[in-house]
Amino acid sequence: MSTKPDAPRPFLKWAGGKGQLLEQYRPLFPRRFGRYHEPFVGGGAVFFHLRPPQATLSDDNADLIDCLLAVRDDLPAVIDALGRHRYEKEYYYAVRAQDPAALPLAERAARMIFLNRTCFNGLYRVNSKGGFNVPFGRYSNPTICDAPNLHACARALKQAQIERGPFGSVLDRARRGDFVYFDPPYHPLSKTAYFTAYAKGGFREEDQRELARVFAELDRRGVLVMLSNSDTPLVRELYKGLRIVRVQATRSINSKGARRGAITELVVLNYR
Ligand SMILES: C[S@@+](CC[C@H](N)C(=O)[O-])C[C@H]1O[C@@H](n2cnc3c(N)ncnc32)[C@H](O)[C@@H]1O
Repeated sequence: MSTKPDAPRPFLKWAGGKGQLLEQYRPLFPRRFGRYHEPFVGGGAVFFHLRPPQATLSDDNADLIDCLLAVRDDLPAVIDALGRHRYEKEYYYAVRAQDPAALPLAERAARMIFLNRTCFNGLYRVNSKGGFNVPFGRYSNPTICDAPNLHACARALKQAQIERGPFGSVLDRARRGDFVYFDPPYHPLSKTAYFTAYAKGGFREEDQRELARVFAELDRRGVLVMLSNSDTPLVRELYKGLRIVRVQATRSINSKGARRGAITELVVLNYR
């Protein structure tokens, strides 16, 4: 993990964030590659760690993509708007009730960062209408605006093209010698073990199968591909014949996130 004081860290807490796994991932990243592509970017822990000179970041969560764009392109306005937010229960619910579509981009991004820093467990969860519905969280003194880190993130994001889209659109862009890192919503260990609905619709077994087809097509093209997923029979079957490395993660082991435990996860690679 990068230890430089000005190294960027994800400015959003994100379910399935890879911050805690970077030490184990570090020897697995390819030494050299062309362009970097991250089609399930979430909080961007791997991107901010690698800081590649040329990157395309995407995700199908429109609120997240708008937030990344605002931090990259309009950071002074985002910081200004964050400075007006405060950690108070009633105020939190008033901000949560706002219609984000009615706000300018920088204020929408500040609202998302504020809710993310002060909500229960730093979760991102929306109701059937797409409204953010996580309750107020209890913290002793949450940092709502970490300006130095936001500046470091904005510098890293300037090197990136940022788009909303499904993971399959990586096929329109990735060429021989490029590096693609896939971090999809994990295949559940059991029917109730994981919360995979980052957005409306969730990520089904059919999506895992489609992702394996995209992986195979990139492999055929000579693209370097790395993928994280849970250790389940389906994942092992989908990536049979490829290099599979086991890593140890600490994850919430019930749906409320109250109990945590060590768990084995998989990293699939098509290179040595
Ligand atoms: C496990 S998270 C990625 C976490 C990220 N690596 C991090 O460190 O924060 C999975 C991401 O996939 C996105 N996602 C879910 N379904 C998708 C799809 N069909 N296409 C693209 N992105 C999708 C979610 O919005 C979520 O941000």
